[in-house]
Amino acid sequence: MRADGGADWSRAQRRLHWTNAALILLAFPIAWVMVAVPFRELLLKFVLFQVHKTLGLLVLMTGLARVFVRVRHGRPEWDAGLPRWQRKAAERLHVALYILLLLVPVLGYLVACTAPIQIPTLFFGIVPVPALFGVNKVWFPVLLNLHRAAAIALVLLAAGHAAAAVHNHRRGRNVLRRMWSG
Ligand code: HEM
Ligand code: HEM
Repeated sequence: MRADGGADWSRAQRRLHWTNAALILLAFPIAWVMVAVPFRELLLKFVLFQVHKTLGLLVLMTGLARVFVRVRHGRPEWDAGLPRWQRKAAERLHVALYILLLLVPVLGYLVACTAPIQIPTLFFGIVPVPALFGVNKVWFPVLLNLHRAAAIALVLLAAGHAAAAVHNHRRGRNVLRRMWSG
């Protein structure tokens, strides 16, 4: 990926990185809870579905904004002390994270469209999001499995990525600080 954005991440890149990460880390546990809530607690289930979908759509929006800013601004130079293999691994991991953070919400949207029990998607509980595809009993389980598996992969890779950032920080490299405060 391009490394010509000057010495620092831009303020927009830093804000978008942490907002996007926080939204993902909220949407993930809510998904398990909303599915586990019994149908007799219908109102709670409905609200949790709306919260999950709203957070997920915000992940998609902030994710697209990240890609846009990244293409325009590039990224700062890699830390000179980072071994070559670690840099290569980080580059690949970052690409995988970008792909997954866009793919997971798109799959989530398709799951919501094709679900046999139609729960309307209301952005922030108010704005109806149109379903571009209809109910599909064949595709629904396939898409749900893909959505779940991709979400788990995203969170696991993000955990590895965060661990690597903390590891580098502890070794005195200016990687985490640069993403946190510029
Ligand atoms: C980064 C964003 C997202 C993450 C991490 C995520 C994560 C998950 C996970 C882990 C599940 C599986 C829960 C289970 O099977 O127990 C799930 C289910 C689901 N998600 Fe998402 N999701 C995201 C975005 C979205 C979006 C944008 C939508 C729709 C607009 C959505 C709609 C759904 C629906 C409808 C289900 C299925 C519930 C069912 O079993 O009927 N998700 N999500
Ligand atoms: C779901 C959570 C997260 C996702 C999806 C994510 C995704 C990403 C991506 C795609 C990049 C590459 C940016 C680019 O090249 O434009 C990045 C950079 C970075 N992330 Fe995360 N991140 C997450 C959470 C975290 C956490 C929890 C930490 C710290 C504990 C962290 C620390 C960093 C740092 C320090 C960089 C800059 C690395 C460098 O200079 O090469 N991230 N993140």
